[in-house]
Amino acid sequence: MDLKELLSQFKNDLKNISSLENLEAVRLSYAGKKGALAKMLKDIANLSAEEKKTLGKKINEAKQEIQEKIAEAQGGLAGKKSALPMDKFLKTLPGKKPVTGHLHIISQAISEIVEIFKPLGFTRARYPEIDWEYFAFEALNIPSTHPARDEWETFFIDAPVDKKFGRQVITPHTSNGQVREMLKGNLPIRMLNISRCGRRQEDASHLQTFFQFEGLAIDKGVSITHLKGTLEYFVKNFFGPKRKIRLRPYDFRFTEPSFEVDINCDLCGGAGCKFCKGGWVELGGAGMVHPNVLKAGGIDPNVYTGFAFGWGIERVYMMKGGIKIDDIRHLVNNDLRFLEQF
Ligand code: DAH
Repeated sequence: MDLKELLSQFKNDLKNISSLENLEAVRLSYAGKKGALAKMLKDIANLSAEEKKTLGKKINEAKQEIQEKIAEAQGGLAGKKSALPMDKFLKTLPGKKPVTGHLHIISQAISEIVEIFKPLGFTRARYPEIDWEYFAFEALNIPSTHPARDEWETFFIDAPVDKKFGRQVITPHTSNGQVREMLKGNLPIRMLNISRCGRRQEDASHLQTFFQFEGLAIDKGVSITHLKGTLEYFVKNFFGPKRKIRLRPYDFRFTEPSFEVDINCDLCGGAGCKFCKGGWVELGGAGMVHPNVLKAGGIDPNVYTGFAFGWGIERVYMMKGGIKIDDIRHLVNNDLRFLEQF
């Protein structure tokens, strides 16, 4: 075989190569120690000095060409295998950081609320998320026939009814923790009950499953000024010193007097929008614990008084300055494009 034929055969072989292993085999068969070119060099050993010189030169040129083509093909195949061939690996290039998540907005808000109330001596309590109707209503001075029950749009559990405690419900509010806390028998009380709640309602400002935090303080001589001071302290720390609250008289059955606590809407600045419908957003209820509730908790209302408040976590979070979430359902839709912003 002459050199020209050998080169064209080599080029042909090269075209059909698909792996680095293939390529190495081809390299050995042409340019290896026992390859075709080495054999040719051996064959010319007996020729005249002149012929050896010119043929030898040609064979060496062919070898060089073959080696160059092999190196080129090697680069191509390595490139296919990985974007960064080992010889181009940059040891100093920072690695890819694993994706790290963060606490969900609701969990962040819970931690923040707990931290704000801590210095006032409120400690976190947890009570059943599926509880007896008794603790959600009767113990809170709302008998089964009272029309106020409708406000709590309750989910009932399909389970046997208890003679004293009634049906089981998904707690429609954290107030179920009030009498449970009193029945522990430790006075004075400064409780912060945080829990998931459920109600049959859903729109831009309500979720079927949501969180509330319930404050309860019971001691001798607790008055409405303590309640107002506590609410204002929380609002200042959570929302910032510029936000305003207003207390609207209301008729919760378990507090007397009772209030709805509103805050001016941060989304529209108080002008009225889809979320607030009138410039103010309701944060939740508050009031002085009703004597009947104290009695249900085994506490003498002639000796002790107390205040309570129960607010929605998602709701208070949405009302924070600059957050501007116009639909509460974004919080639970699990869309990372939204959640990663917080
Ligand atoms: N539990 C009430 C609700 O979910 C809110 C509430 C009102 C809680 C007055 C209280 C209170 O502790 O005193 O609508």
